[in-house]
Amino acid sequence: MQRAIVKESIRLSYGVPGKIPREVPEGGATLCGSHIPGGTMLSMSCRVYHHYEPYFPNADEFLPERWLDEKSAAEAEKHFIAFSRGSRNCIGMNLAYAELYYGFAYIFRKFEMIQAADMKDRDMEWHDAFVVATFGHLRVKLQKVQN
Ligand code: HEM
Repeated sequence: MQRAIVKESIRLSYGVPGKIPREVPEGGATLCGSHIPGGTMLSMSCRVYHHYEPYFPNADEFLPERWLDEKSAAEAEKHFIAFSRGSRNCIGMNLAYAELYYGFAYIFRKFEMIQAADMKDRDMEWHDAFVVATFGHLRVKLQKVQN
């Protein structure tokens, strides 16, 4: 379940939500059956792709279950591009997963109550940046697990 929560969290938190441009090499390329001439700039965004209903049903909902069932997990994995794909994909992907597994495990073992505190919607709104940057900060109230 922890893996499913981490995957679903990354799917909906978009480390790099902006469009990442790529230039089609000389000679062109065929994409989805269409010829794209060399020199064309193409770009796409995981923010858009991760909300595409045919690939992620109920895409706007946080549903870790989609990563648990073998068939739906395989389908979701095919379309999960948070770390990009191909020769220039994220070199820090495995470190990022390790940090997230340790971080989540630590928080949920040490604290039994985690609650947003004194937050306004505006705090979590994004401003334009290559990576996600919010106008405010996430503030939470924590209650330690009693030993
Ligand atoms: C959840 C965390 C992370 C996400 C979502 C993420 C996402 C991405 C994405 C989408 C790219 C591709 C950018 C492009 O196509 O131009 C990228 C590239 C890169 N990332 Fe990450 N990243 C994460 C964590 C890390 C960490 C922890 C490191 C290093 C310690 C790292 C180092 C890099 C580097 C060096 C590149 C450039 C790779 C290249 O161009 O060859 N990333 N990352």
